[in-house]
Amino acid sequence: MTSFVDGFGRTHTDLRVSLTDRCSLRCTYCMPAEGLQWLPGDQLLTTPELLRLIGLAVGNGVDTVRLTGGEPLLRPDVVDIVRSIAGLPQRPEVSLTTNGLRLPGLAAPLADAGLRRVNISLDTLDRETFTRLTHRDRLVDTLAGIAAAKAAGLYPVKVNTVLLRGVNEHEAPSLLRWALAEGLSLRFIEQMPLDPQHGWRREQMVTGDEIRRRLQSAGFELVVLPGRGSAPAQEYAVDGGTATVGIVASVTAPFCGDCNRLRVTADGQLRNCLFARAETDLRIPLRSGAGDDVLLRLMRLEVARKAAAHGIGDPAFVQPQRPMSAIGG
Ligand SMILES: C[S@@+](CC[C@H](N)C(=O)[O-])C[C@H]1O[C@@H](n2cnc3c(N)ncnc32)[C@H](O)[C@@H]1O
Ligand code: SF4
Repeated sequence: MTSFVDGFGRTHTDLRVSLTDRCSLRCTYCMPAEGLQWLPGDQLLTTPELLRLIGLAVGNGVDTVRLTGGEPLLRPDVVDIVRSIAGLPQRPEVSLTTNGLRLPGLAAPLADAGLRRVNISLDTLDRETFTRLTHRDRLVDTLAGIAAAKAAGLYPVKVNTVLLRGVNEHEAPSLLRWALAEGLSLRFIEQMPLDPQHGWRREQMVTGDEIRRRLQSAGFELVVLPGRGSAPAQEYAVDGGTATVGIVASVTAPFCGDCNRLRVTADGQLRNCLFARAETDLRIPLRSGAGDDVLLRLMRLEVARKAAAHGIGDPAFVQPQRPMSAIGG
């Protein structure tokens, strides 16, 4: 076995796989209301192609595989994909990031197929704000999805929240109160410059520090939990109990030095960073009969050239061409 080690000694054990760039919502910070120009169908990796790449990665040191998108539950054979990955001889941990809309029908089959954990994105508990933020009146469906994930025994159920200035930032305390009451692990994520509209402004972003202060002003006692490792979220113990809240401050407190993540897009491009401006095509080699040795060499070269950090604060920073939904968040 080889492992995926970059030029700074970081070993890559976590693979994020995008199953599709399409989505059933239109979160304003992720997609324009009219959607995007979707990847052409013939460029999407077939399931056997996808599973071959995942098998190779898992055979070479990757031990966690997270399925994402776009909305991964739009992929018709997502349950079979989970079963195939979970059934690999190395038994990787399979998790999923989803908007939750299809979880009422899929949570139980996914859990049976070997899904271990799920992250569900929810930015607001207010129906009107949800509709404004996602361009779809589907808050009840996301809430039903969260309930279904709990009922299927997926644990912990994590909830991802992006706060936007003047839209839902004031909801931070009520979201945390709700998450604690529901037994969910809430994580606030700083908005990142990955929107196709290029509307991100650093001054507009609700920062991790601000989120913490908001929670504290609302009366929550937060104590930093040690042992973060390569996890993107800094976790805090809430009110001296066992409950926690996480803050993913990717922009203001980057964790690049501990990054262990690689990404495969739905059209078969290997990326060493969300913010990378280059990627390695694996689809054409896959389709022209490349052997495992060739694919592995390409994968290792992509890992080797990973930059030390994303450089968002750098004046020379340029947002990647691909939006978040086509990379796999
Ligand atoms: C791109 S989505 C894909 C999976 C699924 N559709 C979902 O929403 O969970 C993954 C995560 O990225 C987050 N996200 C999308 N665009 C973002 C941005 N510009 N900055 C920070 N987080 C973003 C979403 O809120 C979501 O939690
Ligand atoms: S954040 Fe997820 S749910 Fe929202 S538009 Fe992007 S891909 Fe869809």
